[in-house]
Order: sequence, then structure tokens, then C-alpha cells
Amino acid sequence: MDYAYLRQQLGIFDSLQTIESGFTPPSSWYNDQQFFKLEEKSVFMNHWLYVGRIDQLPERGSYFCGHFISQPYVVVRDEQNNINAFYNVCRHHAACVAKGEGKAQKFVCPYHSWTYDLQGKLSHAPRLDGIKNFSKKDYGLVPIPTVVFGPFIFVFFGENPWDFLTEHSALESQLKETAYENLHFAKRIEYTINCNWKVFVDNYLDGGYHVPYLHKGLASQLDLKNYSVEMYDRYSLQLCSARNDSKPQRGDFSERVSGGAIYAWLYPNFMINRYGPIMDINWTIPIGHNKTKVIFDYFFAKDIGEEFIKKSIIASDVVQQEDMDICNAVQAGIESNAYDQGRYAPLFEKTALHFHQLLYKDFANILLQENTL
Ligand code: FES
Ligand SMILES: [Fe+2]
Repeated sequence: MDYAYLRQQLGIFDSLQTIESGFTPPSSWYNDQQFFKLEEKSVFMNHWLYVGRIDQLPERGSYFCGHFISQPYVVVRDEQNNINAFYNVCRHHAACVAKGEGKAQKFVCPYHSWTYDLQGKLSHAPRLDGIKNFSKKDYGLVPIPTVVFGPFIFVFFGENPWDFLTEHSALESQLKETAYENLHFAKRIEYTINCNWKVFVDNYLDGGYHVPYLHKGLASQLDLKNYSVEMYDRYSLQLCSARNDSKPQRGDFSERVSGGAIYAWLYPNFMINRYGPIMDINWTIPIGHNKTKVIFDYFFAKDIGEEFIKKSIIASDVVQQEDMDICNAVQAGIESNAYDQGRYAPLFEKTALHFHQLLYKDFANILLQENTL
């Protein structure tokens, strides 16, 4: 990596600027492979990342696998009912020990049959006669710190996991007021967008600025005059009341959109949208500097009926298609000669500036450290 160049591009963004006179980060943050590489180390290794749902692990032995950029993982419910995550990497020659999802009593590596229990311990390693300085207890699967937050599972790939639950306790109470834990997972839909992951996040964090123009159908249901934002250390909330409400309500979600909506964003790449008898999450997964997968998991109130679920998912898909089209267009614009930095709409885009400041801090932690380079 060309650190001098990265430092220079970092410095183009003034993290102390006011929203009224400030400029957005330069295009390089969004279209340069080097920033993508830098993010892996500075952003994604320093924050808790969503990996899946509790209901994916219904029984002892249930597991699912995945990978985030270059980190393959397996998450499993063990015999003691604990949820464990491990790097899905065999300690012999690095093959994956588990595949897809399912139920297992142990993980047997398909390559040479090294076998691990559900707590990651190496229980069997065949035909090693003659090996020296080897003890099975030193060759377990490498564990990944894990937390469970409501129905969500998060992991931490880096070296210094911080206290996720304490830091998000206010958010947890806010969501609890909406009885979000009583909702049930119904469907997962995956989308691929030809944009940098931050373009999708920026779109989410523009404080409703784009809603009346891009999502005319959705705008008709919400009272956009009563849109407000709240910012915390590592997350932000956008609150919108439904039409005819005087201000955002957090407690009343008994009717469809009548109680309004909470859009919670957890830095860096996870969103929880809670409205009426519905919750959906947008899990934003960077694939490359200009390719992003977004996974929507939909949860609904019990006994809501298949018809309602079907209609809601279709309505949400319309909004997502509108967002994806605009994100594709924005990425193309960012990659053109015409654009480097944009401006913020001060009344709306506070949460976007907050995101950019968090990114700046993470980049600066690596790029501005003495002796780094
Ligand atoms: S790589 Fe897993 S047993 Fe050889
Ligand atoms: Fe949108």
C-alpha cells in the first residue's frame, strides 16, 4: 500500500469541519482498492460485525458458516447450549472444517480428517506417528469473540474486542420497547450492488433527504416533517413518525406504520429497521471496492399471515430496487472525472457526517500512528 498517498487522501477530509461548510470524503475512499484494503484492517478488524441470527442455531449442534472479506467463520451451538464462533480453518493445513449450515456432533476436516469438537478442541488427528512437540490441546480451532444482541449474533475478528453490549444498551432498551424480540424470522433476500459498501451506507444515512424523491410510495406513508436523528458513539438512529403523528413515537408499534419507524445503524455495516409488526435488517457485506452484497433478513409479528408478509416483502423490494439503482449510479459518478467531493445537506445528513468521522478516526488510527510506516 502507498501509505503516503493514503495519508494525503485521508487529509482531504476535514473531520472537524461543520456540516454547513464541510465537504464529503474524496472519491478515493470509495473507488480505490487501497482504501478497500485499509478498511479491512482499520474498520472491520476493530468493530463487532453481524454474522447471523439465533434462530439459525435452533438445537445443540446447529451451525452455520460464512466468510467476511478474507475471514471464514463457523458459528455453532455447543452441547452446553453456548454459542461459539471459530475461524473455519483447520490447524493442519488450513482447509475449511465445516460447510454451509446444518447439524453436527463434531467438525471433521475433509482433507486429512483432523476432528474438532463443538468447543473447537482438536479431538482426533490420525496417523501422526513420529511427530514431535505436538499436543492436541495446542491445535484447537481459533476462537472468535461472540456476542448475542436480541436475535442477532455478532463476532469480532480483531485483537481488541470492546464491550458491545454495554455500548449498545440504550439501543437495546429502545428496541425492547418495541417488543422486537417477539418477532419471528420469515425470509432472507440477498442483493448484489455494483457500488462500494459505503455508498449504500451513505444512502441509508442521509436522514430521509432522498425519501420524497426516490421513494414516492414510501414517502406517502411517513410524515417526513417529523424525521429526527440521534447519534451515539458507534451507532445512530433515524426516527420517523407516521402521518398524523405529531412527533416520533418509540413505544407504539401496534399498527402497521402508525407507530412510525426506527432506522438504527450500527457502525460500520449493519442496519435494523423497526416499524409496525415488522423488522428487517440490512447487512452490508463488502465484496470488492465496487461490489457489495446486501442481505435483508425479515422478521414479522407472530400470526401476521402469509399474505401480509408477502405484500410487505414486495413493498420493501420496490424500495430496495430504487436504492440499488441510485447506488449503482452514484458509484459510476464517483468513478468519473467529474466528481471528487460533494456537500452535506445540513438539515438531513448529520448521520452521514457522523459515519465519515468514524471512518476518518479508524483510518487515522493506522495511517497517522507514529512508526506505522
Ligand atoms: S488440512 Fe485439515 S486435516 Fe489436513
Ligand atoms: Fe432509500
